[in-house]
Amino acid sequence: MTLSETLLYTGVAIVALVLLRKLQVRLRLSAAKHRSLTGHSRMARRFAALVPFYEYGDDRFFRADDAPDAVAANRRMGFMRLVGIFEQRFAKSAALTAEVQDGISDLQFTARYRVPFQFSRYVREHLKGGSFLASSSGVTVTDLDGNRLYDLTGSYGVNVFGYASYKECIARGAARVRDLGPVLGAYHPVTAYNVKRLKEISGLDEVSFHMSGTEAVMQAVRLARYHTGRRNLVRFCGAYHGWWGDVQPGVGNPLAARETYTLKDLDAKSLRVLSTRNDIACVLINPLQALHPNGAAPGDSTLVDSGRNAHFDRAAYTEWLKKLRAVCTERKIVLIFDEVFVGFRLARGGAQEYFGVRADLVTYGKTIAGGLPIGVVCGRKEVMRRFREDRPADICFARGTFNAHPYVMGSMCEFFERLDSAPIAALYRDLDALWNSRAHALNERLRAQDLPVRVANLSSIWTVLYTRPSRYNWMFQYYLRAEGLALSWVGTGRFIFSLNYSDADFAAVADRFLSAAQAMQRDAWWWTAPTLTNKSIKRRVLKEMIQARWSPSMGSMSSPRSK
Ligand SMILES: Cc1ncc(COP(=O)(O)O)c(C=O)c1O
Repeated sequence: MTLSETLLYTGVAIVALVLLRKLQVRLRLSAAKHRSLTGHSRMARRFAALVPFYEYGDDRFFRADDAPDAVAANRRMGFMRLVGIFEQRFAKSAALTAEVQDGISDLQFTARYRVPFQFSRYVREHLKGGSFLASSSGVTVTDLDGNRLYDLTGSYGVNVFGYASYKECIARGAARVRDLGPVLGAYHPVTAYNVKRLKEISGLDEVSFHMSGTEAVMQAVRLARYHTGRRNLVRFCGAYHGWWGDVQPGVGNPLAARETYTLKDLDAKSLRVLSTRNDIACVLINPLQALHPNGAAPGDSTLVDSGRNAHFDRAAYTEWLKKLRAVCTERKIVLIFDEVFVGFRLARGGAQEYFGVRADLVTYGKTIAGGLPIGVVCGRKEVMRRFREDRPADICFARGTFNAHPYVMGSMCEFFERLDSAPIAALYRDLDALWNSRAHALNERLRAQDLPVRVANLSSIWTVLYTRPSRYNWMFQYYLRAEGLALSWVGTGRFIFSLNYSDADFAAVADRFLSAAQAMQRDAWWWTAPTLTNKSIKRRVLKEMIQARWSPSMGSMSSPRSK
């Protein structure tokens, strides 16, 4: 063999080895993706773009599962009874909603996505609940028509201690900072107290203030990238971290997030990716995923069948967090706990205390400013620094006009003072045992009455599960509303209880929940053909979509029987 031939073969061998190695790394990444569409952001976006619009007409609406005439008639009667209740009870709230709906984009979006799109228009036209409230008191809210509803929305998780507590935080906080007023740039002295408390609670060295949880997460990731010099972030399948593009790579984001890896939760293959790749700056964890690992936030608009699943296993999730901690330490990856939602809900010391695992950066939000808008990042000194001693032009910029706003700082200070008080400490005592026993008792009552509904919970965060295949589970939210329970736009996907729910309050909610399920059962929405399975429902819906795609005239589907 000549020298040039030897060189050629060696070169080819080196290139082949490099390619092989790249392939191996790529395959390892693929193996660590969840097999659902939630685990494949780009594919999910492509699939979403193909889903055609079609909807059910007046007849098909009641028999999307091919129910016989008698069942469909029963459902229609039940539906019309609900329509009557809504019209009579929510008239003023619905009228104001109708008046402004065209002008509030958010309202149009949430109204449309309360139920699966095939049913949405019919529901919107008939069941008008209204999106306005007049007041709150105890664990209830009162609408414009004077209806008092038990609040299961928890104001997206902000309401941990009860609305009265937040009203006080805001009023007293405002009084504290009144003399300074809305002066920005310099800090009100209460800020010093807040920083001290945040450092104590997080066990971390430094704090930065932002205006929302989304912004706090943006800053945490930016810092991780700055300090590691790596581009990619890891999030786990289904986890919500706000609506910033890089942490929301799938449906909902018009761009592909190219620097985001979405890995399988609770899976050794993900640890393998973390321990072998060199381009990962940080791992983001939303501990709420412990309730539904690898599942997206549950909402009724995706309740096509009864496949919703949830179960909290504290030991397994704790073990997982410990493994993540170890691999992040070993690989110098920044571990970020996004405690915006669960922060002060699971324990006074947050998720770090609850699971006994420490992060490098922690984001807080929601409840922490006593009811005012907020985002906070706490972190280790080395990771929080926004400049380099040796390279003065190499900075990590983060500002924000309203950061550390005096009124927000005043209210936060009140929040932290309350956190130390005896009544609030009492709310945290045996917290999980209390909420687990409430969930268990409700499930027992549902089981005893053979109702096809159950609840699953992570402490005071609940979701509703359905035990029998059905296309109509999303209707349950309207029966609950008729019984005086206020839900957020995700319907039965998520109930968030404030910790001040007394046994009597909870008993009232449980009774109403049961009455709603009984009424829904009576009205035959849970009738099911013996052959119906979640799989057959999904297959059927897919078939409808394909039909609608190829024959757009099917925009409004009628029942085959009624043709
Ligand atoms: C875990 C988590 N992170 C971030 C956010 C975003 O917070 P915000 O809505 O204040 O922007 C949320 C909001 O629900 C959240 O639950």
